[in-house]
Amino acid sequence: MRKQIFAAAVLLLSASFLQAQIKAPATIPTYKNAKASITERINDLLKRMTVEEKAGQLNQVNGGVFTGPAANDPGQKAKMQMTREGKVGSFLNVIGVKETKNAQKVAVEESRLGIPLLFGFDVIHGYRTIFPIPLAEACSWDLVGIEKNASIHAKEAASAGVHWTFAPMCDISNDPRWGRVMEGAGEDPYLGGMISAARVKGLQGDLSDANHIMSTVKHYAVYGAVEAGREYNNVDVSRVALWNKYLPPYKAAVGAGAATVMNSFNVFDGVPASGNKYLVTDVLEKKWGFKGFVVSDWASFGEMVTHGYAADAKDAALKAFQAGSHMDMEANVTGKYLPELLKEGKITMKQLDEAVARVLYFKFKLGLFDDPYKFSNEARESATLFSEANRAVALEAAKRSIILLKNNHDVLPLNASSGRKIALIGHYANSKEDMFDFWIANGTANDAITVYDGMQKRFGAANVSFSKGYNDDATTNETLIKEAVAAADNADVVVVNIGLSGKMAGEDRALGNINISDGQVALLKALQKNGRPVIALVNSGRPMVLTQIQNYTTAILQTWILGTETGDAVAAVLAGDYNPSAKTVMSFPYALGQIPIYYNHFNTGRPIPDTGDQGWKSRYRDQPNDPLYPFGYGLSYTNFTYSGMLINKTAIQKTEPLQVSITVKNTGKFDGEEVVQLYIRDITASIVRPVKELKAFQKIFLKAGESKEVKFTLTAKDLSFYDAEGNSIIEAGAFKVMIGGNSKDVTEKDFEVRN
Ligand code: NOJ
Repeated sequence: MRKQIFAAAVLLLSASFLQAQIKAPATIPTYKNAKASITERINDLLKRMTVEEKAGQLNQVNGGVFTGPAANDPGQKAKMQMTREGKVGSFLNVIGVKETKNAQKVAVEESRLGIPLLFGFDVIHGYRTIFPIPLAEACSWDLVGIEKNASIHAKEAASAGVHWTFAPMCDISNDPRWGRVMEGAGEDPYLGGMISAARVKGLQGDLSDANHIMSTVKHYAVYGAVEAGREYNNVDVSRVALWNKYLPPYKAAVGAGAATVMNSFNVFDGVPASGNKYLVTDVLEKKWGFKGFVVSDWASFGEMVTHGYAADAKDAALKAFQAGSHMDMEANVTGKYLPELLKEGKITMKQLDEAVARVLYFKFKLGLFDDPYKFSNEARESATLFSEANRAVALEAAKRSIILLKNNHDVLPLNASSGRKIALIGHYANSKEDMFDFWIANGTANDAITVYDGMQKRFGAANVSFSKGYNDDATTNETLIKEAVAAADNADVVVVNIGLSGKMAGEDRALGNINISDGQVALLKALQKNGRPVIALVNSGRPMVLTQIQNYTTAILQTWILGTETGDAVAAVLAGDYNPSAKTVMSFPYALGQIPIYYNHFNTGRPIPDTGDQGWKSRYRDQPNDPLYPFGYGLSYTNFTYSGMLINKTAIQKTEPLQVSITVKNTGKFDGEEVVQLYIRDITASIVRPVKELKAFQKIFLKAGESKEVKFTLTAKDLSFYDAEGNSIIEAGAFKVMIGGNSKDVTEKDFEVRN
């Protein structure tokens, strides 16, 4: 009997087990079923979400630290409670596996629907291994390298639990007073577009392997045109300038698949970008077909009230939402007011669902619903961050970012085995902090190799002396100047690190004066007197005015802000282990008063002639129009000559390509790389066109004595421009095509485009 009962029980149990097994899939909600499509999963989830939970997905909160003593902080507790209640879609500034995993656990295991969080962070030029600032990296004109660098930024960030970076910055700027020029790719729309796209591709990959992260095209739009280079200032540009000069890099980055776009702080046509329907809906969504989501800049939804465009916080939430912006970074107006606005019929459920679906899409795409802890592997984190392999890539990037601006008597490179004594002078050369800018992500100054470290290693510690030369804030210090002169007297060559503190590059670092400081000029003047060669290394996150130092320097290297591997990169260039190949992507002004300055300006009705009477022309009475160093400029330890420029036709139809070629020869003693640049000019058009526009380039390597025919194909796309409505047009008429090693020194040919 017992046996029978037992057998029956086993049968019953196994039957119900079997039943449970069969039923199991039906009990998993579709949004949790990895086999369903992303669209099915999103639709299912939307059906289950309350309005508050939907608004929560559009809310991004500045997180910080949640573990340890911070766990008891009332503010931090409140954020965790919001997470539990499904009122946070994303945190920014929660980083590291420990922190992100802890917060993710609350979202996934303690909130009603278990929707995972997105962790966003400003990974601008590296997470832990800090690469050169983006402006410097852009000067490499090395798209393959730039994409690779971005993939390392992503890999390190992803290993530390970060899903999303607020980069690349695609803002074109002509104003080196703006502290954020360091974050972009310079003044040219074409090159800016190529570089922005490379950065997006490197960061994102296909977003599913946990080694890549979402990118953000920022600051949309026209933030680089802030008046007088002052942060958060007004912007006032024409639609023609918008389309032809400012939008191309954002468009290229969106075209490369960027997951998100960030509103800028400024107005366009009098309407703050966050609430600007023309920019966000008409251009970004409709014209460019952007399918990702739009995130505000820090509190920029709320700032529409201060701008004088929204009446109050609720109105700001409505205006941002109606314009097509989606996620609210830190203004806390969206999460708070969307449910009310919905109740009042000011927005529809369809609109809300559409916005939320965009955010959810990326959470599914990253695989977070299936494995929320995919980015939470501590062993992976410690093996990835600041690894030898990552540092090697950063070192290469740093070498390729340094520009040789001047090299009288071929004083560079320095022979490292000659035993010559080098006096290294300048506070920055021995300051780890100054190897970094404001955007250091998780980098630590201690990791940085200073110029002094790098030079001792490369030239021998006994051959390199160091003295400070000027105060930490770059002001004059006569005692330090005396010490520096004494050190120079005992040396064969003098290397002086001048410029700006790394901390003067980045957001809220606008400067009205970008001349080399009086203290540093006084130092150079004193050093130059003993007749030894003086080599200046300029540390800065922007082009500075270098006119005043010309008489006191034999050579100048623009070393920008190069990150953790600075010292080794600078030493390699000084010693000639690496032959400089970078070319500036921003004009170096001759004088402060020229700013804004850029190569692709219009001709005006009164351009100044090269020679002869310049009266009543567009000129300054007290300074030249030309910059000190033009866009595209940079020297090498070797020389390149350009000859035999050819075009295959002198007249083409609009649809026909034009073949252009030129022979470049390395006539010097070193192997080297040259950036061969092609510019066009549309002589007469329905709207005036710039005197030069970059349309193609090739970075080529030539051994000493070697020459190469460099070929380009120009197509209708290269010869077209945008009208004020953003229609791309090509017009018949006269054109010029120009090729050279910078934007000023070019050889040219004329051709015609026919209907
Ligand atoms: C403000 C900056 O303008 C933006 O670029 C950055 O991504 C956010 N703060 C977040 O830190």
